[in-house]
Amino acid sequence: MQIFEGDCLAILPTLEAASVDVIVTSPPYNIGLGYSAYDDRRGEAEYLDWMVQVATALRRVMKPDASFFLNISGSSNQPWLPFELIVRLRPLFVLQNHITWVKSIAVGDDTVGHFKPVAGSRFLHQAHEHLFHLTLDGRVKLHRLGVGVPYKDKSNIARRGHKQDKRCRGNTWFIPYDTIQRKAQKFDHPGTFPLDLPRWCIRLHGKPDAVVLDPFMGIGTTLVAAGSEGADGIGIEMDPAYVATARERLNNA
Ligand SMILES: C[S@@+](CC[C@H](N)C(=O)[O-])C[C@H]1O[C@@H](n2cnc3c(N)ncnc32)[C@H](O)[C@@H]1O
Repeated sequence: MQIFEGDCLAILPTLEAASVDVIVTSPPYNIGLGYSAYDDRRGEAEYLDWMVQVATALRRVMKPDASFFLNISGSSNQPWLPFELIVRLRPLFVLQNHITWVKSIAVGDDTVGHFKPVAGSRFLHQAHEHLFHLTLDGRVKLHRLGVGVPYKDKSNIARRGHKQDKRCRGNTWFIPYDTIQRKAQKFDHPGTFPLDLPRWCIRLHGKPDAVVLDPFMGIGTTLVAAGSEGADGIGIEMDPAYVATARERLNNA
């Protein structure tokens, strides 16, 4: 695993062109989260221009069949942001899949996952985020069964001539956060994703010995997932405290 401490816009140009198989990343969402070094509230135009610059630098390091999984969410006050961003990225990538990451859901009267209350009565609570799957030409073959699910109706297996009891999971991924008792268990980082999110992206890409990059590494969730999938990882993070936590997590993993 390789970890760089610094600004991804400065570090990405030093990486070899066409050398990365999978990018999984969650940039700051520009919604005022309390990161310790990064100011998460910039003008929207400035933020979008900056993200286009980062995406352009990422494009350069992608292999022709690479997959770029971009996790982003808006907020009640800034609902257009993910859509504005993805439209700005259209000249650079093909949007091959749009996955909805469901963090909590009600099925009938049953509820699963962590419900985050929202103040006031105008907005529904935020229970999902976007996971945009971007590729260079829209023709990247995926290992869908790598994140597949067993058939509910087993008679489908023989009737449809499937080789195994697995079907595609589809493009809604239910991945709740682990239950935590104390803030310290979040490693004092305000905006991480659960381990299964990068893990499933790496499995979906499905190539052995993949090189996995996260230019907004945070506390290293993508690199921990890469390690657990036998992949190689490159992480970039500007905040020394988060870099230290990422190194510790990798050592413990
Ligand atoms: C949403 S968090 C990523 C969290 C990560 N997915 C995890 O699970 O730990 C975004 C991270 O980007 C970092 N960051 C912001 N601007 C950066 C830049 N220009 N270069 C590198 N890292 C940056 C922030 O410090 C923050 O840790």
